Amino acid sequence: MSQFKPTLRLLVRRSPGGQDEALRKILPERIFELEMADCVDELEIMLKGTEPDVVLLDLSIPSLDNKKSFDAVRQMALPPPVLVFGPKENLSLLSNFIKHGAHSMFFLEDDPDVVTHNIKKAAEMHRLAKENEHLRTALDQRNSAVGILERLGEAMSTVFDMRRILNLTLKVVRRALDCEMCSLYIYDDELGSLVDARDLGFTEGRPQMELWQPGSRNRDAILRAAAQECLDSGKPARFDNSDEVSKLLPEYEQGHDGGQVNCLITAPLTVGSRKLGALVAANRLDGASFSDRDKDVIASVGRQTALALSGMRSLDREDSFQEKLSAQVQVATDSLKEKNLELKMRLQEKEESNRKIREMAKEIADKNSSLEDMVKQFSVIHEVSQVIGSELEDEKLIRRIIVETGSLLQAETVSIMLKDSDGCLIIKHAEGLSSEIINATKVSPGEGISGWVLEEGKPILVKDVGSIKKEAPDKKTLYHTDSLLCVPLKIKGKVSGVLNATNRKGGGSFDERDLFLLTILGNHAAIAIENARLYTAIRESYFKTIKALVNAVEAKDTWTKDHSDNVTNYSLKMADYLGLSENQKDTIRYAGVLHDIGKIVISNSITDKPGKLDDDEWARIKEHPLIGQRILDPIDYLEPVKVCIQTHHERCDGSGYPFGLRAHEISLETRIISVADAFDAMIHSRPYRSALSVGEAVAELKRSAGSQFDSAVVGSLLKIIEAEELEGELHH
Ligand SMILES: [Fe+2]
Repeated sequence: MSQFKPTLRLLVRRSPGGQDEALRKILPERIFELEMADCVDELEIMLKGTEPDVVLLDLSIPSLDNKKSFDAVRQMALPPPVLVFGPKENLSLLSNFIKHGAHSMFFLEDDPDVVTHNIKKAAEMHRLAKENEHLRTALDQRNSAVGILERLGEAMSTVFDMRRILNLTLKVVRRALDCEMCSLYIYDDELGSLVDARDLGFTEGRPQMELWQPGSRNRDAILRAAAQECLDSGKPARFDNSDEVSKLLPEYEQGHDGGQVNCLITAPLTVGSRKLGALVAANRLDGASFSDRDKDVIASVGRQTALALSGMRSLDREDSFQEKLSAQVQVATDSLKEKNLELKMRLQEKEESNRKIREMAKEIADKNSSLEDMVKQFSVIHEVSQVIGSELEDEKLIRRIIVETGSLLQAETVSIMLKDSDGCLIIKHAEGLSSEIINATKVSPGEGISGWVLEEGKPILVKDVGSIKKEAPDKKTLYHTDSLLCVPLKIKGKVSGVLNATNRKGGGSFDERDLFLLTILGNHAAIAIENARLYTAIRESYFKTIKALVNAVEAKDTWTKDHSDNVTNYSLKMADYLGLSENQKDTIRYAGVLHDIGKIVISNSITDKPGKLDDDEWARIKEHPLIGQRILDPIDYLEPVKVCIQTHHERCDGSGYPFGLRAHEISLETRIISVADAFDAMIHSRPYRSALSVGEAVAELKRSAGSQFDSAVVGSLLKIIEAEELEGELHH
């Protein structure tokens, strides 16, 4: 007998007396395996046990059993096709079964190939139907698994609690795989090994243990070994029988503890290269092995769980990080708040300080401005004081004070009033006033404002003179006044005069500061005036002393009596004619008087010698210019005068003495003195000669002009001599 296995399994409900032989003739054994059922009950049993591809129902003998048999087949969940057969005379019966759902019919006398074809065709239809059903079921299961996975994914994406995720995973695996045991192992990074989730306390109770026998926890060893291998390989695995399972842990004796692991599947919990653990399911409740579909399911659940765990760990880390960060942020925030508060306080303090500083700055700025003004004014006063202090001439000084005061105070009129011999104030000098007013004004002590200041010795400011017009103290001054300042000029506590300033230029009144400035200026002016007065007095006193000496000289030398005065007169007239300055004329005035002072130390025997002088005597005479210079040497202010005295015997052609200077080396003042000296000497007698007439003297001057004398100077003298008054004086 060949090992050929028939393609199709046929279940035949045969009729009594059977048609077995006839069937076997038309149904090749190599194609069909026939199983016979003799009654309905037997048919039902065989339908469930053998799962025939086709059922053949013999209708050779009409019977109620035929219908029962047919219904029994049709009641199956996925009934195999029923082919009815019988003799041709039963065609009607066969057709009736066709109407009620039989697949087709055939007759025993039909062509076997046709019958075989029909049966194969029916079997094929049934196979397809079964396959469809299987696929539909698989699809349902797949859909179910997918649904479970989807729900698992959704749940895991919203659950952030590891206990719930692990429990959810275990429930889903058990429900999807319908297994006896399911374990989840977590890889502990620190331990470097897998830890049963139950031992971590994450799972609620031990639901997977309910179906286990007492002591079956020992089977954990197998499951743990499977999980470890799965984690090592990183892939899902399937172990279909106990032999394969036993290889996982050879030393473990299966079944010794009342339980056995018949099959199992594993899935790693990995995300990328990270190994988080493994999932193990064992022993299907229906006793079957796990399928590839189951492996797919557990792998999917594993991936979902791994992702959830990974997210959880990230969250944990993130939470931890967040917590730390939050703590740090809180600390930083607290610190910042504290600092902010501190800063705010500092800011407030700063603002307060700034406000005070601004106020102080403004105050200082104001004061600075005032100070600057005052410094400027004091600077002006200082300059004015220096100018005033450098002026030693009374008249010049007073004029200077008037000008500087007017400039400083922008006053329309300024006047200096000094006490006269009567103790009244008269205007010494003024600017802005007519000479009529100046000459007419005389104020008694206590009279008017200036008289009050003279008497009281105090400065006064009157901003609006009009308001006191009736008692206008200065009405006698005859000039209109709007506002005025009047300060005393005090020397050693005594008032010698007053300094007045009236009416500010451009309008407006004087104020206290102006009064203050004028008071200071008045103090300087008073001192300067007193100094100048003293200086002038000293100078005049000194000059008088010298003049007395000169007079003494001239008194002992009768020949030269009045000579110095004459020289002075001639010289001053020439100076006027030649347009010399006041200073130059001052020099001439002194030099004219003092030019021969040196002769005081020369013996009368020489100066009065009637005859011709010998060389020694002449030499002695020639010394008098230098002697005169030495006599006056201590007097500083006579410096230009001393030069004149020293050189009054020099001649323009260089033939003079004591130095033999030439014209350009001799001052104009000296050249004038020299001509006057010679002219006066010529027209007066001397011990050694008689006086020349003016005409002779003029001729002599003309002759010597350009050589001994300066031509221009001689020319000026000649003009003067020609003048009537001079002529008159000369004749006189
Ligand atoms: Fe002389």
